Amino acid sequence: MTSQTYRKPVRKAVFPVAGLGTRFLPATKAIPKEMLPIIDRPLIQYAVDEAREAGIDQFIFVTGRGKTSIVEHFDTAYELETTMSERGKSLEVLEPTRVSPGNLLTVRQQVPMGLGHAIWCARAIVGDEPFAIFLPDELMIGSPGCMKQMVEAYEEVGGNLISVLEVPHDQVSSYGVIAPGAKLDALGGALTEVTGLVEKPKVEDAPSNLIISGRYILQPEVMRTLEGQEKGAGGEIQLTDAMARMIGQQPFHAVTFAGRRYDCGSKVGFVEATLALALEREDMATEVRDIASRLLK
Ligand code: UTP
Repeated sequence: MTSQTYRKPVRKAVFPVAGLGTRFLPATKAIPKEMLPIIDRPLIQYAVDEAREAGIDQFIFVTGRGKTSIVEHFDTAYELETTMSERGKSLEVLEPTRVSPGNLLTVRQQVPMGLGHAIWCARAIVGDEPFAIFLPDELMIGSPGCMKQMVEAYEEVGGNLISVLEVPHDQVSSYGVIAPGAKLDALGGALTEVTGLVEKPKVEDAPSNLIISGRYILQPEVMRTLEGQEKGAGGEIQLTDAMARMIGQQPFHAVTFAGRRYDCGSKVGFVEATLALALEREDMATEVRDIASRLLK
């Protein structure tokens, strides 16, 4: 591995959005989980905005049955825009939903067989380039955003990168967990070598309390590793297992995200994110704070 290997720029992002969202039923029976809004932006919009901030401009959605509205969200809404213009309303609010022609591609995951399988479904579009992965139900709030922090790290070390966060040790069984190796001096100590990965370990078996948190930069070789992979934890084809097999063959590092993560795939995490972001918004913070303190009395 020379220093120039595995350092091509990251221009593509894969958004796996084909999951069933069972934890949010019945809300997610006809509406994709990724379209649930935190205040006035659906979860998928936060993820796409974060990708753009990191300089990524090609968006690959791995969709499935009932997920069409996610693609429509990023389409031109001709009637809506015409009517709004005729009524003198500004179209600025729709700006984030615009994607350059040809820069949004979709691929179907016919059966939701797990995150690893969803990523593998994008192999033809990813081709021979490194790519980012965003799990839209993990809302990452930071300045700069999580992927921008990761791209900065990628410029230092190249290879494969995952974003990690510390959680209390007794909670590790719900997540993918890393075995950390040596810390690097670059980026103020935020970069750590990864020597192992394990999906949903028992508390006593967990190699650390550093959990993988929904953002990745991977080299295209991971697609070959996913090919024909056996099912792992939960009977699903796990991305964590494929990544674990790449350790030792290519550089593999973790970036500790300087920011906040909200697990919007869970109901409590979703409520927390809504409240936290509302309390930060200039247009509503005062009102929301008053409501919250009234409710808490
Ligand atoms: P989750 O683990 O949150 O699964 O997926 P889920 O099916 O969406 O939700 P629950 O657990 O049933 O409530 C994390 C991300 O991976 C995608 C999901 O759409 C979500 O963005 N995913 C998951 C797929 O695209 N395909 C799959 O087979 C599984």
